[in-house]
This record gives sequence, structure tokens and C-alpha cells, in this order.
Amino acid sequence: MEEKTWESAAAATGSGLDLAIVIATAVMVAAAGVWLVVARRKETRKPDNDDGEIDGRVPRGSSGWPLLGETLDFIASGYTSRPVSFMEKRKSLYGKVFKTHLLGKPIIVSTDPEVNKVVLLNHGNIFVPSYPKSVTELFGKNSILQMNGSLHKRVHALIGTFLKSPLHKARLTAHIQNSVRRSLSAWADKNNGLVIYLQDHAKQIAFEVLVKVLLSVEPGQDLDFMKREFEEFMKGLICFPVKFPGTTLYKSLKAKGKLLKMVGKMVEERKKEIEKRDDPIDAIDVLLRDTGESDGTRQRLPLDFITSNLIEMMIPGEETLPTAMTLVVKFLSDNPVTLAQLVEENMKLRMRKLNSGEEYIWTDYMSLSFTQNVISETLRIANIINAVWRKAQKDVKIKGHLIPKGWCVLASLTSVHMDEENYENPYEFDPWRWEKPGININSSKFTPFGGGQRLCPGLELSRLEIAIFLHHFVTTYRWVAEEDEIVYFPTVKMRRKLPITITPLAVEHLL
Ligand code: HEM
Repeated sequence: MEEKTWESAAAATGSGLDLAIVIATAVMVAAAGVWLVVARRKETRKPDNDDGEIDGRVPRGSSGWPLLGETLDFIASGYTSRPVSFMEKRKSLYGKVFKTHLLGKPIIVSTDPEVNKVVLLNHGNIFVPSYPKSVTELFGKNSILQMNGSLHKRVHALIGTFLKSPLHKARLTAHIQNSVRRSLSAWADKNNGLVIYLQDHAKQIAFEVLVKVLLSVEPGQDLDFMKREFEEFMKGLICFPVKFPGTTLYKSLKAKGKLLKMVGKMVEERKKEIEKRDDPIDAIDVLLRDTGESDGTRQRLPLDFITSNLIEMMIPGEETLPTAMTLVVKFLSDNPVTLAQLVEENMKLRMRKLNSGEEYIWTDYMSLSFTQNVISETLRIANIINAVWRKAQKDVKIKGHLIPKGWCVLASLTSVHMDEENYENPYEFDPWRWEKPGININSSKFTPFGGGQRLCPGLELSRLEIAIFLHHFVTTYRWVAEEDEIVYFPTVKMRRKLPITITPLAVEHLL
């Protein structure tokens, strides 16, 4: 009896399973058919833009599997030591600009510096940033990272001008030096001969500088609280997008709530004393003082807008800069000839300062030409931000390629940096290449900080901070790095956080 029941149950389940497979297959085939028809129609239609001039075809490429597209291949290449292989393979089949389908969306990938330049310049505000929904929720709708048009221009210009100003850089140099020296001597005192994880320590230095620049927060309890909550908040940017108590996204939003409360209080306090100073001391001042003349609104920015923007401005700086600081040390550890030349250049500056008794100024660091070349080469080869994602607001044609309205464009910065057409032996760490004619950091073939309308406002601050860190590190200490490797997915970092042992430099090295 029991056996019979089992058999009939098995048969029922079997036919149920077969039926399910048949239905699923039919649905998939139908979906694929509809999807292909829609995709083909989109690719061959004559686009209907305002002036009716645009005519062209969507670049060639593959849309991969129904629904999944080519997402798995894209992610798999991210886990290898050559994440650009996804792009390289398709570039060789379809050309420098090709079509694919990633994360549920049709996407046009550009590995062409000229096309990337047009996308980044974004004349006429055709391209807007495009992020997954969970990330947009974390950013907030008024974040500089997603806002567009005149408000974006206003906030971007305010922050960019402030961070670039010589007065600010002069003031900040002393602060970065103190932070770097304090951290380095603390490592040496506590860890002489023991292993430290450089990536963690670089994060501490970079965070201290970031909150000083934006909020004038000094080391202490507030800083420790902010660092803890900010790290929790950042976890939500790369997580499974479900939100209920206990999930990463939920905790991340909670952490953001705590940060908003704390920074909101700072902004309100500052508003009371805003007239007391002539020059802004940080980003709070800059945003509070603006009267809206530049965009003609003649309206001050609301306090809650300022508060959330200050937090969101920390997102692009919190991990990128310490990653660059860590990777520069990794490349120096692997390239002794580069290290020797860098030490020589920095020792000369150090001796000059010791002999004259003068303080360092920011231009001292920026004029260390070989050091700056080492920084450029690190940014080129490490590709900390590998691409920027945009969505087209209307049909647009670039170099003959049609990008239909609503499609995403992935401007691959990495592909340009690792292309033999642009850099000889692109996988070789070669800072001397920056001394050769025709290679320069202002070219559209070198875009570690993006470009155009959204060019990173932290660019000069980053170069200055890395140079200050390197100067004091290589002129005060020697180090030995343990074996470690770079991972590229989901973000660029060292697999083991770059363990090193450091020892203070003997006095005779300084004489
Ligand atoms: C090595 C370090 C850094 C790298 C490689 C880097 C890279 C980038 C890139 C590629 C973009 C453009 C994103 C896009 O177009 O969608 C960007 C934007 C941005 N970065 Fe950086 N960044 C670095 C450091 C910093 C620092 C230290 C700060 C903070 C002061 C910062 C603040 C910003 C902001 C606020 C934006 C958004 C600009 C806008 O959308 O208008 N970055 N960064």
C-alpha cells in the first residue's frame, strides 16, 4: 500500500516536474522571442530625437542569455587577475564600442577614449548617472552622485573650487602631515618588527583627512563614532537588496540615520556662527555660505540637503584614496628600481628642509615629479574606479554609434588604460613612461578620476595626500611587504590588506 502511494506520488511528481519543465521552457522561449524582437526593433529603428538628425545603428554585440544576458561572464572576469578580459574579448569580436546585456539591462560598453570623453563631457545633460535601486536609496535622491542639471553644477563647482584652492591646500597640508606622522609613529611604536596591515592604516589616515576637509572633525570620540557608522553604511552599497531588521541593507540605512543626526547638529551649530569668519574652513561652510548667485536661484541650500550631501560626498573618497595609498606601496615593494629613485627624490627634499629649517608647503610635494609619475602609474594600472555608468535621456549618436534613449552606457576607464594602442606594455608598472613625449595626465586616455561634468573634485587632494604619505613613509621608515595580491571584484583591494613590517630608518641614512 505504502509502496503504491509512493509510486503514484513519484509519478505525479515526475509528470508535475515534466510539466513544469515544459512550461518553463515555453515561457523562456517565448520571453527570449519577445525579447529578441523588441531588442532588434530597438536596434534598427530610426531614432526620433528633437531635430530628427540622428540616424545610426546600435553597436554590434551579443545580448547573451535571456534575462541573464552576459552578467555571469562579466562577474566571472571580475574575479580574475585580468578583469578587463570581458571587454577585450568583445572588443576583438565587435570593435571598441559594443552592445551587451548586464544586470537585467541592455548596455553599450565603450572602450574608446573619444566616445568616453563625449559621455563624460555630457553636453546638453543627455547622460545621467545610473545605479541599482538599493544603491539609489542609500545615496538619497539629492545626493551629488545622482543629481543632475543646474543644482549638480552648483554643488560640484562649490566643492571643486574649495578643494582646489591654494589657500585650502596650504591649510590642509599641515593637517595631512600631522595625521600621517602621528599614524606612522604610532605604528612604529606599537609594531616595531611586527606585522601591520597597511590597507587598514591607510583607511584611518584617509578618513581622518576626509572628515577634517568636509566637517572639521578632529581625532577623538566623534571621529571614531563616524568611522564605525560610516563603515556600516558602506556595507549596504554592495549587498543583497533586501531590507528588514537584521539585513545588511537595513543596518546600513540605520547607520546612515545616525550619521545624518550627528552631521545635522554640526550644520545647525555652524549656521549660528557662519558670519564670524572671512574664509570657509570646510565643506560645511562652503555649502552654508552659498547664496545661489551662480545658478540664478538666489536661494541658500536647505540644511537637510547640505547634511545629506556632506555624508554622500564621503562615499567616493572613503575607499578609493586609501586603496591608492596601499597600492602605491605594493608597486614600490615589487619594483626596487622605482623605489630607489623615489627614495632619492624624497630624501633630497627632506635634506633641503632639514638644512633650511623651513616648513613643508603643498607645492613641495606636488613638484616631486618622479613621485607624481609613480602616483599616475599606480592610478593607471590599478584602475580603482574601473568604469562609470550612465543612462541616455534621449537617442544619441557618437562616432556613428547609436545609443538609444533609456539604454545604459558603461564607459570603461580600465580598458583605455590597459590598451596597447594607448600605452606600450600596458601591464608593466613603468613610471618612466610619463616622461615620454605624447603621454600626459591631461589626456582623455588617462581618466582615473573620470572627467567632464563629474570629474572627481577630490583629484588634487588625493594626489597631495598620497605624495605627503609617501614622502614621510619612505624618508622615515624601511619596510618589508609579505606576499599579497590585488583583487578587483567587487572593488579593488589587497586580498590580505597588504601585511608589512616596518622599522625606523637609521640616523646615518639621513646624513
Ligand atoms: C584616488 C582617489 C580617488 C579616485 C580614483 C576617485 C575617482 C573618482 C571618479 C572616477 C569619479 C567620477 C564618477 C562618475 O563620473 O560617475 C569621482 C567622483 C567624485 N569623487 Fe572621487 N576619487 C578619488 C578620491 C576622492 C576623494 C578623496 C574625494 C573627497 C573629497 C572624492 C570625491 C568625489 C565626489 C564628491 C565625486 C562626485 C562628483 C560628481 O558627481 O559631481 N573623490 N571620483
